[in-house]
Amino acid sequence: MMQQANLPTHIGIIMDGNGRWAKKRGLPRKMGHRAGASTFKEIARYANKIGLKYLTTYVFSTENWKRPKDEVDSIIELLRSYLNEMDGYAKENIRVRFIGDRSVFDDDIRAKMQRAEEKSRNATGLTLILAINYGGRAEIVHAARMLADDVQAGKIFPHQVNESLFSSYLYTDGIPDVDLIIRPSGEYRLSNFLIWQCAYAEYVFMSGVLWPDFKPATLDAAIAEYNSRSRRFGGLANE
Ligand code: IPE
Ligand code: IPE
Ligand code: MG
Repeated sequence: MMQQANLPTHIGIIMDGNGRWAKKRGLPRKMGHRAGASTFKEIARYANKIGLKYLTTYVFSTENWKRPKDEVDSIIELLRSYLNEMDGYAKENIRVRFIGDRSVFDDDIRAKMQRAEEKSRNATGLTLILAINYGGRAEIVHAARMLADDVQAGKIFPHQVNESLFSSYLYTDGIPDVDLIIRPSGEYRLSNFLIWQCAYAEYVFMSGVLWPDFKPATLDAAIAEYNSRSRRFGGLANE
């Protein structure tokens, strides 16, 4: 385990490359998703171990419904079985949270999500955020709609709307902005992930690794790269 001198507060990971990982091995894509799920569990535990406060992982995007039905179904089934294992997180002091539009999922899945969130509510270690049926634009539009409702109801006046009030309508209410985005697999884009929250994030694209092969040491390497960057937030560097 590396020395984490300057651990970012919030890391986002776009868990990409499952399909290519499977293809390289002559396996069906769903086997790539299965391998990716086990990598996810390992990395979440490791993030907690090194003392990370927030980890958001991109599990399923609002655009991923475009994929063939059997692939989508296999991802939802993986999610369902993973949700059954989530009771252990409270014991590990990991707090779980889901972001995205969960209204489309079956009742049992929604109930399990709620249960995982409630059971781990008081954990003080890592906050593990799973983005499921998540899209950054959909999130912003959803926030705007709720805000408009509150304005119409007379709870808020338009002149009160500022960045911090707007943020409180996002799924990520209460979660600090993203410091570091990591994307393996050789794609250099955000794919609609946390577009509001990434305004000043650092990006580390790791083209040599597909998500199922991502290791704790890969996370260490991304954090080391983050530590070599100079974040200025529009101001001037200290040194
Ligand atoms: C990421 O892996 C998992 C999801 C998007 C659900 P992909 O399935 O996108 O893998 P590639 O990009 O096809 O290799
Ligand atoms: C982003 O990956 C979504 C997830 C990792 C869940 P995609 O594989 O769907 O992104 P694109 O299509 O390559 O942009
Ligand atoms: Mg992909």
